Amino acid sequence: MNEMSKPATQTVTVTLDGTNRSTTLPLLPGTIGPAVLDIRKLYADLGVFTYDPGYGGTAACESKITYIDGDQGILLHRGYPIEQLAEKSSFLEVAYLLLHGDLPTKSEYETFVKGVTYHTMIHEQLRRFYDGFRRDAHPMAVMTAVVGAMSAFYHDSLDINDPRHREISAFRLIAKVPTIAAWAYKYSIGQPFMYPRNDLGYAENFLYMLNAVPAEPYQINPVLARAMDRILILHADHEQNASTSTVRLAGSTGANPFACIAAGIASLWGPAHGGANEAVLKMLAEIGSVKNIPDFISKVKDKNSHVRLMGFGHRVYKNYDPRAKIMQQTCHEVLAELGIKDEPMLDMAMELEKIALNDDYFVSRKLYPNVDFYSGIILKAMGIPTSMFTVLFAVARTVGWISQWKEMMEDPSQRIGRPRQLYTGATARDVTPIDARG
Ligand code: CMC
Repeated sequence: MNEMSKPATQTVTVTLDGTNRSTTLPLLPGTIGPAVLDIRKLYADLGVFTYDPGYGGTAACESKITYIDGDQGILLHRGYPIEQLAEKSSFLEVAYLLLHGDLPTKSEYETFVKGVTYHTMIHEQLRRFYDGFRRDAHPMAVMTAVVGAMSAFYHDSLDINDPRHREISAFRLIAKVPTIAAWAYKYSIGQPFMYPRNDLGYAENFLYMLNAVPAEPYQINPVLARAMDRILILHADHEQNASTSTVRLAGSTGANPFACIAAGIASLWGPAHGGANEAVLKMLAEIGSVKNIPDFISKVKDKNSHVRLMGFGHRVYKNYDPRAKIMQQTCHEVLAELGIKDEPMLDMAMELEKIALNDDYFVSRKLYPNVDFYSGIILKAMGIPTSMFTVLFAVARTVGWISQWKEMMEDPSQRIGRPRQLYTGATARDVTPIDARG
């Protein structure tokens, strides 16, 4: 048992049929949610592994950060419902919460904001990295590389066993990812890089670095800044998903946090994960208009087509994604603020949602809109290019990744992650010389 968890109150006894071998495994209770069967001595006692491709039934770690009840559509960060955090707090308050376990007091918040803000600039030599990329490089490629390269620049905070170093690395990552992301965008459109402005809030500064140019004053729209802050809150953490598990697995080897977060960014890129918000917009563009939706839905239902309704379905949520509800509301606020009335993308999105919520194919498989279904439409309306959508997700999730990494580093039972396998390849055989092979 891990020192952090409660003792087992129940056990499960497993017997290997046809043998006299059996083992009694403790069932570890959480504070909420299903208990977990501690199988650590299963191999020693029975000589067998467990098999769970995709880890749908496997708890890979103990965590106090985020709780999801996929059947009820509940998402809690440190116990606080996402709906309340999105309404009543800012992204940096949520960042503090994820990292430290409680919402900050006013003075704790001010100190935290100061700590993050102090680190918003990136090393001037790191700026030259951008010149090495082709102009049409995907900004996620640039993000992965530049964040990974941070470990070559910030040697003074790389002792992962020193809590102060871990804190400085966390500050550096949270503070610098918006700058790195905005510069990836500026590079792709050939505009000058905008240096961060520490007099602005986190989301405001990000919008400023993305949209401002040195030649003209830039007015920040408070509705859009609030929408951006909310998008960041809604993407901040999501339990042990693919990219977070990647960060933990990389971190379990003792790799430095910049390398671990770069690994997380790479993992987030895929269309089944963070790449979905970009894929939703591509899908809507492909559909083209509401009248083409029935044909598209038929394709989605045809197993041989391999077409999926992007922005729908979730490994854990088998009910409405609570983040999607907030996103839908934010989407309407942003479109109203920008005076966008007849947005064909939104009409298509609404129609797709209506069909999917009533069609037996989607209902029977519990496929509901997820967070990415609406975030793409909001970002597009805000003038952010599609290729930047997943980058934005990475900016927000950096907070979750670094909080999960910190928690892992502070866990006394932490050891290198090393899954096993069900081997179905060739059994042992001899190498024949190349000339003698048939
Ligand atoms: N469109 C059509 N059918 C789907 C979809 C979809 N989006 N998602 C799942 N299905 C079907 C799937 O074909 C399967 O049907 P059947 O039982 O007949 O074979 C059934 O639903 C179960 O699918 P699964 O692939 O076993 O489910 P999963 O839990 O492994 O996949 C998922 C979860 C998110 C990868 C998947 O739903 C998907 O590919 N969705 C589209 C991509 C997307 O929006 N991803 C963003 C997720 S939220 C943000 C994030 O976590 O990054």
